[in-house]
Amino acid sequence: MAVKLNHTIVHSNDPRAAAEWFATLFGLPAPRPFGPFLDVEVANEVTLAFLDAGEMEIQIQHYAFLVSEAEFDQIFGRVKERGMKYWADPGMRQQGRINHHFGGRGVYFQDPSGHLLEIITRPYGSWDQA
Ligand SMILES: [Fe+2]
Repeated sequence: MAVKLNHTIVHSNDPRAAAEWFATLFGLPAPRPFGPFLDVEVANEVTLAFLDAGEMEIQIQHYAFLVSEAEFDQIFGRVKERGMKYWADPGMRQQGRINHHFGGRGVYFQDPSGHLLEIITRPYGSWDQA
């Protein structure tokens, strides 16, 4: 199977601010303009294309990122430095906590437009192990 996710659009209230916020928080290269988009590419060649939502009401999406333990420390360190809220669960009930699903670490937080981002150090596996 050769099908790979290549890009997805991240509708944003302020796409430049959102793209720069994302790139900085995640330690990624600066956003690159591409037509109406501001593109940020992650390590597996998937591009997040930040786009102005304009008059459209933003539908909250969920974007999850698999990171190394060191990257988790860096990204989560910035989340805490910035005083951002974070949660152990996607329902945002366990505030100020992280999870340890599948023997790793995971945490959820929101981007400036309200999208729910997640970083995990282990891919999802069987819920028997969670
Ligand atoms: Fe998720």
